[in-house]
Amino acid sequence: MEEKKSVVTMDKLVNLCKSRGIIFPGSEIYGGMGNTWDYGPVGVEIKNNIKRAWWKKFVQESENSFGVDAAILMNARVWDASGHTASFSDPKMDCKECKTRHRADTLIEMHSHGTVNPDKMTNEEMEAYIKEHKVCCPKCGKSNFTPIRQFNMMFETSRGVTEEGQNKIYLRPETAQGEFVNFLNVQRTTRAKVPFGIAQIGKAFRNEITPGNFIFRTIEFEQMEHQWFCKEGTDHEYYEQFKKKAWDFVVSLGFNPEHLRFKDHDKLAHYAKSACDIQYLFPIGWSELNGIHNRTDYDLSRHQEYSGKSMLYTDPVTGEKYIPYVIEYSIGADRLMLAVLSEAYDEETLENGETRVVMHFHPAIAAYKCAVLPLQKNLSEKAKEIYKMLCPEFMCTYDEAGSIGKRYRRQDEIGTPYCVTIDFDTLQDNTVTVRDRDTMSQIRIPVEEVVPFIQKAIKF
Ligand code: GAP
Repeated sequence: MEEKKSVVTMDKLVNLCKSRGIIFPGSEIYGGMGNTWDYGPVGVEIKNNIKRAWWKKFVQESENSFGVDAAILMNARVWDASGHTASFSDPKMDCKECKTRHRADTLIEMHSHGTVNPDKMTNEEMEAYIKEHKVCCPKCGKSNFTPIRQFNMMFETSRGVTEEGQNKIYLRPETAQGEFVNFLNVQRTTRAKVPFGIAQIGKAFRNEITPGNFIFRTIEFEQMEHQWFCKEGTDHEYYEQFKKKAWDFVVSLGFNPEHLRFKDHDKLAHYAKSACDIQYLFPIGWSELNGIHNRTDYDLSRHQEYSGKSMLYTDPVTGEKYIPYVIEYSIGADRLMLAVLSEAYDEETLENGETRVVMHFHPAIAAYKCAVLPLQKNLSEKAKEIYKMLCPEFMCTYDEAGSIGKRYRRQDEIGTPYCVTIDFDTLQDNTVTVRDRDTMSQIRIPVEEVVPFIQKAIKF
């Protein structure tokens, strides 16, 4: 396990992503904008495929789960009700010497190399630890910090047509609240009976004190969240079910289960009765991939209180009225993208001694399902005819530049599962060779069999 994982580093991923059109630094021509990233032509396909795979499992194939796409900008009272205005904050300290800002818990984790768990400490205990162990500023190396202050991570903006009439609003820090405020809308319009689920994929924004590690922690990211509304008393059973579903989903994308583990939260969020993460062995070490939370009836009760609107569900059989409990499963699309990239990355030594970098994506996740390659440029007319035939079926790419070996390498680096090569025999018998990315073996098949062959392989 460690052997395979040691091959991939964050630097290698960042470089590969930039050179192969997967992910570019944000606003690059202006010198960049810290911790923002733009997905390129290959990356946007991979990320869309990840989101599609998640939606398929948690909406399409999930009995009694429904999707929504709620607004990013919500009434500011939503965030008072959810508790974010009061307590969505991290413990920050400023270095008095170089004026940089840090999270106290991260300083302790880094200093102790993960042997001390700051989640179990109060702010006073963290301050005392930092003083006693002379924990240094990662920027200037001095140990001279301000006391801890809580730093709210919500991005503020304002809404109003005149300067004086501006109202403070927020960019949502999680998509979950869009699902909670629509609980009764969805229930009424779908006639769903509890238990049922609401899912959403969308952008969230957090003014993180210490973003970084490529797309692991950014200030703008996408979440894929699923809220399961159930009756109190059944909540623990569903919590366990969602732990398993979340695990099975990641494994179904081709992850080695040895690179995954559960981690219970030491410190529960203000709304949670129980909570755990699935961690993945990222190039930076074991870190959170997703969270599963038992949020009790906290969110719906608070929205009832703050909006004055009833959030009661009426059981159609017994007539009983109650506010359901919620089991939440939340995973960052970009966080999963980074895990998918890390898991897929491999370097192989070929017979001729050369190294081939290959991304072993699940074919359903790969950006292009096949690349059409004429062996020589004078075969391009036939190759383009085949490319045009394949394009309506799935994402394909076409490449006629450079030697066939170089073109295979380029496709390996972006994880294209199949290369369809057109040669002179194709003109005679209408057959092509199909090269497998992982084994590099080739088979010859009639052109009309290419679509069913690839469609079977990319099924998720
Ligand atoms: N609604 C619950 C919630 O938002 P969270 O643990 O704060 O819980 C859920 O976030 C998931 O969103 C995380 O497990 C991670 O995958 C992703 N995530 C959170 N903050 C992120 C950030 N700054 N950058 C990228 N992904 C992030």
